[in-house]
Amino acid sequence: MCGIIGYAGAKQAAPILLKGLETLEYRGYDSAGMAVMSDGVINIQKCRGRLAALAEKTDHGQSMQGSVGIGHTRWATHGEPSDKNSHPHFSQNEQFAVVHNGIIENYQELKERLERYGYTFQSETDTEVIAHLVEYCDCGDLIRTVSKVLQRIEGSYALGVLSTREPECLVAVRKDSPLVVCRDDEAGYIASDIPALLPYSRDMYLMEDNEIVALTPGKINFYNIDARPIEKEIYHVDWDVSAAEKGGYEHFMLKEIYEQPQALQSTIQSRIRGDRIQFDGIDYTSSWVEQLTGVHIIACGSAYHAGLVGRYMIETTLQRPVNVEIASEFRYRNPIVDERQLVIAVSQSGETADTLAALREAKRRGARTLAIVNVVGSSLAREAHDVIYTWAGPEISVATTKGYTTQLLALELVAVYLGQQSGRLSQSAADALIEAICAVPELAQSALVDIAPIQQMAARHFNAKDVFYIGRGIDYASSQEASLKLKEISYIHSEGIAAGELKHGTISLIEDGSLVIGLLTQPKLREKVISNLAEVKTRGATVIAVTSMEDAKLNALADEVILIPETNPLLIPVLSVIPLQLFAYYISVYNGRDVDKPRNLAKSVTVE
Ligand code: G6P
Repeated sequence: MCGIIGYAGAKQAAPILLKGLETLEYRGYDSAGMAVMSDGVINIQKCRGRLAALAEKTDHGQSMQGSVGIGHTRWATHGEPSDKNSHPHFSQNEQFAVVHNGIIENYQELKERLERYGYTFQSETDTEVIAHLVEYCDCGDLIRTVSKVLQRIEGSYALGVLSTREPECLVAVRKDSPLVVCRDDEAGYIASDIPALLPYSRDMYLMEDNEIVALTPGKINFYNIDARPIEKEIYHVDWDVSAAEKGGYEHFMLKEIYEQPQALQSTIQSRIRGDRIQFDGIDYTSSWVEQLTGVHIIACGSAYHAGLVGRYMIETTLQRPVNVEIASEFRYRNPIVDERQLVIAVSQSGETADTLAALREAKRRGARTLAIVNVVGSSLAREAHDVIYTWAGPEISVATTKGYTTQLLALELVAVYLGQQSGRLSQSAADALIEAICAVPELAQSALVDIAPIQQMAARHFNAKDVFYIGRGIDYASSQEASLKLKEISYIHSEGIAAGELKHGTISLIEDGSLVIGLLTQPKLREKVISNLAEVKTRGATVIAVTSMEDAKLNALADEVILIPETNPLLIPVLSVIPLQLFAYYISVYNGRDVDKPRNLAKSVTVE
């Protein structure tokens, strides 16, 4: 996610901003920039690439004179990584500069309106809308101006704003994006997270939604959304810097598991418009979708597992066959693909070599291609005909968690979109799915409220030698992802198996002490999986059941039950995987593994 830093004091701001941006680097970014107030004029320097490029451009900050400023590392969401899309952004009259972390949902609408009023845009970002809006709302007092802006913008944001009319002042605000504030004897500071501010203080003010802060040298004042002064309590930080980078979590993987509700919200936000799904920049005509003979989903690793779930979603709504294939197989198979097929490439990084090669192969054969990726401006995003970003934010742990669940939700959005465009999904069925999609982030949150039972379960099973995950239908797809999660970070042998296939071989491995985890989220297939669990139980296995529907029969059979929230059966893979991510995580921790960097694995596999 983007990183924000701000300083208002007596020293030169730019070197302090650069140092702060360095401590925000771990969040992931593709460009960086700073704005410093100098003799009543705002000086902006920004560029694509690493911070070293910005440091070089500004002579390590020495070339930017001034003691009030804002800095930013950008993780692209709207518009590719480039100099002009980097922050800060100027208002039209260059009297205001803005940095932003988050997504402005109604930016298109605001942009069109501002264009009608004569504002011209230099970038493709949603942030530039805010800069122009600040100018448009300017009432001569920056706090009141920002308060007016807040009435007009929707979405998530942490903002830092400079104004030439109040050259000693830096104003910041947040909603659904983190922002912390602190001070030392001579200055005030803002940042996206605590580590960037630890060199200055351990006493922080944690900004709440729609609280505004004004920093002037030696003073910090807080206001509510109506620009009325408020008091804030101090939060004392007693963690060390490395824990603080992980937001207080022991590992990035755990932090990212907990970020899922917010990431899922980002994936759906601005894509649900009334009773329809829409994606900016994608306009498949009804007649084109209607004539499609099929869909291919190509991907690697967990993204392939997301595709396996996506098949159920798209076949339900589009009623056309969906082929899901591992990209390294697809690319060499002489696949039957033509212009009457849609090829969807799914990838967190957008750089996986096999997925990219498979996409090129599909294009060569005439298919229309759609990339579902997280990293904006990545190779897949650039090369596919169309792109949908998952907006999960940077994922640092090698084992994907929020990257995967946001892919699932993006695929469901695509499924509803294709169903609606083809006319094969009734409005009432679409309404029900859209309602279920909107509820997912909150349900994901509820799945994270009490994780102690999962942790205790992991403590009981961390010595397991073999773990089998079994399920049918969509639960078979989830079993494969849950199994991969466990084996990749714990190094324990594990398989995800279609429950009905056990009897054709794998059941010979079941003996006293084998651990079998059954997923039972699909009402239609529940009894079948219960029978399969009974088969392994009689052969000595310990059985854990993952279900949203407890009953006496299952309780009697299973040694342990993990209850997950209920939702539409097509969306339940988002929720069933969360406790299993946590189970894998704690087993890895109890085995003393390097959770975030498992041996032999890479986050992004850019070679064949
Ligand atoms: C690597 C990662 C996996 C990921 C796979 C595909 O193996 O460790 O977590 O699922 O690559 O990566 P992609 O970036 O294409 O989703």
